Amino acid sequence: MTIPHRGRLTKDGIRIHEAADFAGMHAAGRLAAEILDRIADHVTVGQSTGEIDRLIEEMVDDAGAKSATIGYKGYKHASCISVNHVVCHGIPGSKIHKWKNDKHNRTNDVLLEGDILNIDVTVIVDGWFGDTSRMYVTGKPKDFATKLIDRTHNALFKGIEMVKPGNTFGDIGHAIQSYAEKFGMSVVRDFCGHGLGRVFHSPPNVVHYGRAGSGPVLEEGMFFTIEPMINLGRPETKVLGDDWTAITQDKRLSAQFEHSIGVTATGYEIFTLSPAGTFHPTYSN
Ligand code: MF3
Ligand code: CO
Ligand code: CO
Repeated sequence: MTIPHRGRLTKDGIRIHEAADFAGMHAAGRLAAEILDRIADHVTVGQSTGEIDRLIEEMVDDAGAKSATIGYKGYKHASCISVNHVVCHGIPGSKIHKWKNDKHNRTNDVLLEGDILNIDVTVIVDGWFGDTSRMYVTGKPKDFATKLIDRTHNALFKGIEMVKPGNTFGDIGHAIQSYAEKFGMSVVRDFCGHGLGRVFHSPPNVVHYGRAGSGPVLEEGMFFTIEPMINLGRPETKVLGDDWTAITQDKRLSAQFEHSIGVTATGYEIFTLSPAGTFHPTYSN
């Protein structure tokens, strides 16, 4: 069944949703965030990303929801799991290649001590899309890795804090870029956030860099993601032969956090807040 869209489009093709639509986005966003809460206990040394994905698919099914990624442009999994120098769209799997068991040239799908990884889940609930990702660690990562994670999380919120009617998408990108670059880290240009709602990806492209005051003006009723990918080294990426996995060209670490957000009359609502309050990891061990 196709549910008709409501609300007008701006001249940039950005949908302006109605007040009643926020509830649908909250329900979808809450489920995606809850799945990311519940998967945390399964992110351990020796676990495969394929098994983590299987558990995520089970949680989506058990909730009576649909995975937005299974069948999307031929993608076959309920999550993207991007380990260490994988920037985004890492494909979950269970392969072990012992002869390539080194962190910088790995093809292993099994998590090792000190790995950092992003898990990205998008679900459809009553036709609304909830899209969120966050970082996890196994064991005790290096100091520079936890710093990258903390600063990427901060960068996302620098962007979110710019969300209110009258500000522009360039204000969001500028806030993220200027924060990340202060620490010598770089912002990935090749992938961006996106409008969403009753569709997975719609205008605008929410880029995570740019000039303050540039780009379309934010209006109440816009729904979009902010999902900065921040690299320890250079920003360039390349996509592997599987046509999905994006890695840093210099093989240094990359981190990402993603929230789905709606613009309100005075600011924003985050649809994908963690019900358990664990969106940002703590390094307890
Ligand atoms: N969830 C991703 C995003 O943030 C998109 C993943 S598409 C997939 O937009 F096909 F790779 F799963
Ligand atoms: Co997204
Ligand atoms: Co996502």
